[in-house]
Amino acid sequence: MFSKIFYLCAFSVSIFQVVVCTGQKKTFKEKADSVLRLMTLEEKVGQMNQYSGNWAHTGPITEDDNKLKEIKEGKLGSMLNINGVQHTTELQQLAMQSRLKIPLLFGQDVIHGYRTTFPIPLGEAASWDLKAIEQSARIAATEAAAAGIHWTFAPMVDIARDPRWGRVMEGAGEDPYLGSLIATARVKGFQGKGLGNIDAVMACAKHFAAYGAAIGGRDYNSVDMSDHTLWEIYLPPFKAACEAGAATFMNSFNDLNGIPASANAYLQKTILKGKWKFKGFVVSDWGSIGEMVKHGFAKNNYEAALTAVNAGNDMDMESRAYKDNLVKLVKEGKVQVSTINEAVKRILVKKFEMGLFDDPYRFSNEQREQREISDPEHRKIGRSVAQKSIVLLKNDPASGQQNNLLPLSKNIKTVALIGPFAKSKLEMLGFWSTGWPDSDYIVSQYDGILKKLSKSSQLLYSRGANIDDTITSGFAEAVATARQADVVIVSVGEKSDMSGEAKSRSSIRFTGVQEELVKAVYATGKPMVVLVNAGRPLIFNWTADNVPAILYTWWLGSEAGDAIADVLFGDYNPSGKLPMSFPRSEGQIPIYYNHLKTGRPAENDSDRFYRSAYIDLSIHPKFPFGYGLSYTTFKYEDLQLSTSKINNAGTIDVSFKLSNTGKYDGEEVVQLYLHDEFASVVRPVKELKDFKKVFLKAGESKVLHFKIDKQKLSFYNQHLEWTTEPGTFELMIGSSSDDIRLKKNFELI
Ligand code: NOJ
Repeated sequence: MFSKIFYLCAFSVSIFQVVVCTGQKKTFKEKADSVLRLMTLEEKVGQMNQYSGNWAHTGPITEDDNKLKEIKEGKLGSMLNINGVQHTTELQQLAMQSRLKIPLLFGQDVIHGYRTTFPIPLGEAASWDLKAIEQSARIAATEAAAAGIHWTFAPMVDIARDPRWGRVMEGAGEDPYLGSLIATARVKGFQGKGLGNIDAVMACAKHFAAYGAAIGGRDYNSVDMSDHTLWEIYLPPFKAACEAGAATFMNSFNDLNGIPASANAYLQKTILKGKWKFKGFVVSDWGSIGEMVKHGFAKNNYEAALTAVNAGNDMDMESRAYKDNLVKLVKEGKVQVSTINEAVKRILVKKFEMGLFDDPYRFSNEQREQREISDPEHRKIGRSVAQKSIVLLKNDPASGQQNNLLPLSKNIKTVALIGPFAKSKLEMLGFWSTGWPDSDYIVSQYDGILKKLSKSSQLLYSRGANIDDTITSGFAEAVATARQADVVIVSVGEKSDMSGEAKSRSSIRFTGVQEELVKAVYATGKPMVVLVNAGRPLIFNWTADNVPAILYTWWLGSEAGDAIADVLFGDYNPSGKLPMSFPRSEGQIPIYYNHLKTGRPAENDSDRFYRSAYIDLSIHPKFPFGYGLSYTTFKYEDLQLSTSKINNAGTIDVSFKLSNTGKYDGEEVVQLYLHDEFASVVRPVKELKDFKKVFLKAGESKVLHFKIDKQKLSFYNQHLEWTTEPGTFELMIGSSSDDIRLKKNFELI
């Protein structure tokens, strides 16, 4: 009887928005409080517990027949890996049988699209197109929300400087400035016009914190990091996500300087909920609370739960440490009931904000689900985002020719497409894509290219090799096929499960015999383009040094084939720029553009005498951060600074002229870097501080403006205060971190 009354009240809230039965206006917090007051301790702890569904999982699942019973008893707050209208409705119906009818939250890793699959996040980051990135997250949210999902475990905003780490594919690369803007774009995209809208899902900034700095790039490994690096490099994208209103944060598997993130009060309480005033809730990573036992940080799950909850970890994903121990810990006085209340309140507030107390089934709607996942507009945008994510690494003339090899003519008589990725559909999606039983909606490279060619052209195909074995028996056919062609396209790279969670690699070369295949086909002397499909920066020096044209195509998602064909044949002029440095050898890792200055810097490769360099390797990466070519060329000139001296209150207007000096319309990502010449803490050689992606028609020029102010000149000093110091700054404008076209100094007084 009571719960009926409660629910009538809750439903009347939905009808009259903020008016509840008492007639007073209540905030979500007050509403959460009124629910909290009705809850038993067991029910509260239940809200702090999250299980995975059985049908799909992304960690060592705890099989337990009691799950459904616990939902009915109101002892579960959330489930992950439950999607689709049918599944979510079924489980929500069970929750509605519980005493207080508190709705479940359904979470899922919607990382780069739901049905319409977008490029992997690292690929999207290469677009440097914040609107496109936001739009991709928006569409992912729209589709997922219609399938009953309330919460995505994205964006991953971990900075990554080590391409051996498999999860680089899931982030925005190595730079904190670019990473912060992309974090903001993704949070905004997922959460749309705000929680409560039917197409908004809760974002989850992860993995808090410094997971991307796992030693040696080995997933789940320890992180040993100075506070300075933490604050300057690894925390900014999290701060940006928090400021953008991310509803939730996920902590991480790693320990940070000896304290596991799940029990790290400095991260979760002092920084996130304290300094940054984060209002949402923190979920653990999968089993990470229980894993503190293996860390040797907690003797058992009881201690793990104690340290985690007291450190500000609100929800336990799949380790059951909370479920099995929190009630006892409260009864024994080791955990304050106020700590539990605070965590539960944070969770309930989000359920209210999502409108789930008004209608627990509002996200699960079959017609909407069907409509959203098959919306052709989504695919159009997917194709456009994929085009923008492709990076043109090289475009020389083929041997004996004068013009750059790309773009190709649609009238080439015979094109040969060779390689293990050429006809594959599933490989286009990449890691962290939602599994669908059919692959009809994915465009292969073969299909994309075939559609482009004129009627009088023909497309030949040969697989040549597999991705990761040593069988070379297909080489002869591949070579014979290449010999019949006027242009050969070879598509090689990484399998879609070679980058991602638990996919660290010690060697990041092409696997199997793929580079041998490239060599064998190259030996035919035919003009040759290589497509690299990958989730991380790979090393392919021979290919890079010999093959005239290379496109880095990442894993571009369901529209990959069309987008690649658009670029190959010039319907889209490539504009992507690398969001990570590409090493020339694993021995060079970590290599990143914004490294600190040393006392013995090497200026170039002949400068090795007692320098911070290897005696056997270039100081340069193979391809630098910010690098990417276009079919056109851009000229940078006439750099002007409105003043050469400012104080903390001042601004400098920076302007310069950018001209498209080539034959094609195209976009350039102009990058502004600063270098603080002298400071009380050693500063990086350069830092990205602004950029613009600009479209110019062939022959067109534009004067572009940037603004320099205190914010861009600030850094964390020895006391971790965000501050400026007077002195000289070098301002650099360039086409990549290694291709600075204009420079000027100014002074902060
Ligand atoms: C573990 C991963 O680290 C995390 O990113 C993911 O969201 C969870 N599993 C849930 O699948």
